[in-house]
Amino acid sequence: MKSILFVCLGNICRSPIAEGYARQVLKEKGFIDIVIDSAGTSAHHIGEHPCKDSIKVAKAHGVDISHQHSRQVKQSDFTKFDLIVALDESNYQDLKYIGATHIVKLGSYGYEGADVPDPYYFHDFEGFEKVYEMISHCVTKLLDEEIEAWTC
Ligand code: 4NP
Repeated sequence: MKSILFVCLGNICRSPIAEGYARQVLKEKGFIDIVIDSAGTSAHHIGEHPCKDSIKVAKAHGVDISHQHSRQVKQSDFTKFDLIVALDESNYQDLKYIGATHIVKLGSYGYEGADVPDPYYFHDFEGFEKVYEMISHCVTKLLDEEIEAWTC
């Protein structure tokens, strides 16, 4: 069984959207045997639900992430998951520093490696809409490419 872990800083804004969206896409495609999860590099929000604007923007697109909880990435994730997907460059560097391998940046799937902007300090919902658009675009492409590679 293949597995993908999405990682941002707090695991309350960006990676929970990627997790929820990826699960939804896989459910629609009928690929039920791919494990999807998300985590944060920091311990600041462990146990918390996603932030209210991430829940709201996902819900507006038909994805329920309200039940998800933040957790911190751990060493065992690096052997458990086939692919670790960093949401921005600092997440990527932090993951590398703590020993993760097979890391990719989500923005490398269609956004020329760009960072998914950190919306934590955004004061407008529009920012979350842009983040959702980027995440959903990149996750769609990632799943298409990885599923094709894994099933060949
Ligand atoms: P995330 O956003 O990494 O997309 O979950 C953040 C959440 C919390 C903080 C920073 C970014 N923080 O500084 O607490």
